[in-house]
Amino acid sequence: METIQLNENVFIPQIGLGTWKLDDLEVAKKCVLAAIQSGYRHIDTAMGYGNEEAVGQAIKESGIPRDQIFVTTKLSNDFRGREETLQAFEDSLKRLQMDYVDLFLIHWPAPKKYRENYVELNNETYAAMEELYALGKIRALGVSNFMKHHLEELSVKIPVSVNQIEFHPYYADWQTIQYCQQHHIVIEGYSPLGRGQILSDPLILELASLYHKTPAQICLRYAIDNHIIPLPKSQTLERIKENLDIFDFSLKETDIERLRSLSSENGKIGSHPDFADF
Ligand SMILES: NC(=O)c1ccc[n+]([C@@H]2O[C@H](COP(=O)([O-])OP(=O)(O)OC[C@H]3O[C@@H](n4cnc5c(N)ncnc54)[C@H](OP(=O)(O)O)[C@@H]3O)[C@@H](O)[C@H]2O)c1
Repeated sequence: METIQLNENVFIPQIGLGTWKLDDLEVAKKCVLAAIQSGYRHIDTAMGYGNEEAVGQAIKESGIPRDQIFVTTKLSNDFRGREETLQAFEDSLKRLQMDYVDLFLIHWPAPKKYRENYVELNNETYAAMEELYALGKIRALGVSNFMKHHLEELSVKIPVSVNQIEFHPYYADWQTIQYCQQHHIVIEGYSPLGRGQILSDPLILELASLYHKTPAQICLRYAIDNHIIPLPKSQTLERIKENLDIFDFSLKETDIERLRSLSSENGKIGSHPDFADF
């Protein structure tokens, strides 16, 4: 599996398994295990997904050494500031049954509970993450759902390595993507299949037929060809495998442009980071 360098010693695989909505722990464990057996080496979870325990258990049972699997988790919207962040992180490690994570993200920049003073709280939170990084408990630091202005508002000593944001043919925040790419922040694309809702789009179907690939594979390759790490979620074993089979082709520049032309504000499926109702 190809990787992208995040910092001096850390390399992130170019695709990861998404695990949101895998809240039945047995199902989550089965999917993560099947993904690892199919060749995935990158798992995306979060405190808020309620499945860290299953992710950790599957990784243990896979028999693949811990240092060969890239694990991301995220600070939930319930916690901010130094003490809460340190405590929540330790609780996550316990659930994951690990002594470090590869990537730790602030899940949302401005949760409703903290919207009044989110800038100050994000700075305190990120400083606590930097402490954990210095202790070797986090190998790379990042954020999620941060738009350009949230990134500009954040004070950091250790650079942000990753920003995880919504990305698929129907939606992209090109301004934030451009800002991140200029500042060497790697983008992870969530909902890369548009949650399955965009797979019967005529252009995506046309390209699937042209490249002899499935619509999902066209969407995933579109992320890779935009230098974005896709995080497809599936609880269907065949699809978990299908979603990894995207490294034997690439889209022509003209086809990437055609797919880009599908993206618009209306295509956003997830919540807006500044106005989310949570
Ligand atoms: N940071 C954030 O705020 C945030 C927000 C949203 C998501 N995420 C992350 O990104 C991951 C992916 O996003 P997502 O779960 O919203 O959506 P997604 O991966 O775009 O789509 C998942 C949906 O597509 C279906 N699917 C998967 N593979 C398919 C295939 N090959 N053919 C047809 N349908 C397929 C799945 O069905 P089955 O499962 O039934 O197969 C599921 O209904 C999440 O799991 C999570 O890890 C992060």
